[in-house]
Amino acid sequence: MEQQTVLILDFGGQYKELIARRVRECRVYSIVKPGETPLEEIKKIAPIGIILTGGPNSVYLESSPKCDKGLFDLGIPVLGICYGTQLLAYSLGGEVKHCEVSEYGQTKMRVDPSALLFLGMDEDQIGLMSHTDRIETLPDGFRSVASTDHCPNAAIENRGKNLFGVQFHPEVESTPNGTEFLRKFLYDACHAAGDYNLKDLETRLIKEVREQVGNGQVLLALSGGVDSSVVAALLSKAIPGQLHCVFVDHGLMRKNEGDLVEAAFKGWDLNFIRVNAEKRFLGALRGVKNPERKRKIIGKQFIKVFQKEAKKLKDVSFLAQGTIYPDVIESGGSKAATIKSHHNVGGLPKHLKFTGLVEPLRGLFKDEVRALGRQLGLDAAFVERQPFPGPGLGVRIVGDITKEKTAILQDADAIFREELEKSGAKADQYFAVLTNTRSVGVVGDFRTYGYTVALRAVRTSDFMTCEYAPLSHDLLKTVSTRIVNEVPAVGRVVYDVTGKPPATVEWE
Ligand code: XMP
Repeated sequence: MEQQTVLILDFGGQYKELIARRVRECRVYSIVKPGETPLEEIKKIAPIGIILTGGPNSVYLESSPKCDKGLFDLGIPVLGICYGTQLLAYSLGGEVKHCEVSEYGQTKMRVDPSALLFLGMDEDQIGLMSHTDRIETLPDGFRSVASTDHCPNAAIENRGKNLFGVQFHPEVESTPNGTEFLRKFLYDACHAAGDYNLKDLETRLIKEVREQVGNGQVLLALSGGVDSSVVAALLSKAIPGQLHCVFVDHGLMRKNEGDLVEAAFKGWDLNFIRVNAEKRFLGALRGVKNPERKRKIIGKQFIKVFQKEAKKLKDVSFLAQGTIYPDVIESGGSKAATIKSHHNVGGLPKHLKFTGLVEPLRGLFKDEVRALGRQLGLDAAFVERQPFPGPGLGVRIVGDITKEKTAILQDADAIFREELEKSGAKADQYFAVLTNTRSVGVVGDFRTYGYTVALRAVRTSDFMTCEYAPLSHDLLKTVSTRIVNEVPAVGRVVYDVTGKPPATVEWE
């Protein structure tokens, strides 16, 4: 039987991904499509429910995105969120107006516990509000089932037609019972079976890969990052003996990381080709100081090395990639066969004639990729690793890169990561940077002139913005003492307390 799907129609809200993830967390498969998706396509998808996302527009403006009104007559339960609710009300004859008082942030609501979304729950709830328009008059057949001080129609329902709307955002953590509201929509309105789970997902992905690839040979550029590693694990299980992984070690990996990646794939049924290309990369980078040039050189060298290895392999017809769902959503979901412009694989040689692209993770979110990796048997610590940029330490050594500087940074970075992990401090990305600054110090009776290492640890959920992590002074002191004692070339350690914006996560 086909897997049940909830369709999320996107009207430009920043939370579309989050909605899709929440629905999946409720064990219901979800996909995101543009708000204007034609009715015919929606019918083909045959969703068990439709969710209309928020968005920055006002429905009463001519230019704002609309959906096909026929959507509300399909007999499929619909839940509008924020703009999606206003669109639902407006499309069905209700009136939407600019609010006299806009609501932003966590807002107290009084909900009707007899309403489907709030059945049996407390009357007092909190919802995250973010709106400047509100529903003034309800369409026929609807009733208000929640209100706030400034929003009389904070949630609406038409039980007969299975149409629901909330002005607040149930998908965010700031709406404490938000997932429960969504669950009620999914299970009580859409009658979901809860048939989305990882074990079935693995079985389905393996079946799909086998159907696509047949007896063909597959090539994967294994960066050692989480996504390409999980692709390797999955393909090794799906098509044992048909997978060739090329792992290019550019010499700018973290301390021992090349060996860690190699060890992670010991015993797996795949052809692991490690290319130690440190000399080549450092040679090409000699004397280069400009960060963007460094990135370009590393990317170009990567392609050259990869191409050389690929040519040695005979009869490889498929290229595998670790594209994941956020990449697909961002590109509008229409670039099915476009090679992801990630540094590691971007611009792959066209003359390597692949007959197909294998992207088994293109429907999954990062947390699902990690869970799948664990289920496939990859080490938990391996799949939980923090992101590491393609150009590696190349963008963490300010100025020109040498073998010596790389070794200094690897040592300092390893100490910082070890101590931070031991302390249990919470950070989503953390690393050391070798600044190009040297400063005067004193050790014993001698004057020193060592490098300054900057520590960076940030908290973020999307890496588009971040806050610096407020690490304890004790931890910083331990790290600083260890680094200056154990890495003689370093004379000073500083902590970067800048957020993004105005800074970026990486220094270069
Ligand atoms: P920035 O420095 O742009 O970093 O705030 C945001 C996130 O992207 C990572 N990053 C890169 N990843 N190639 C990559 O694959 C790159 O050139 C690159 N530059 C930054 C960075 O580590 C952070 O997670």
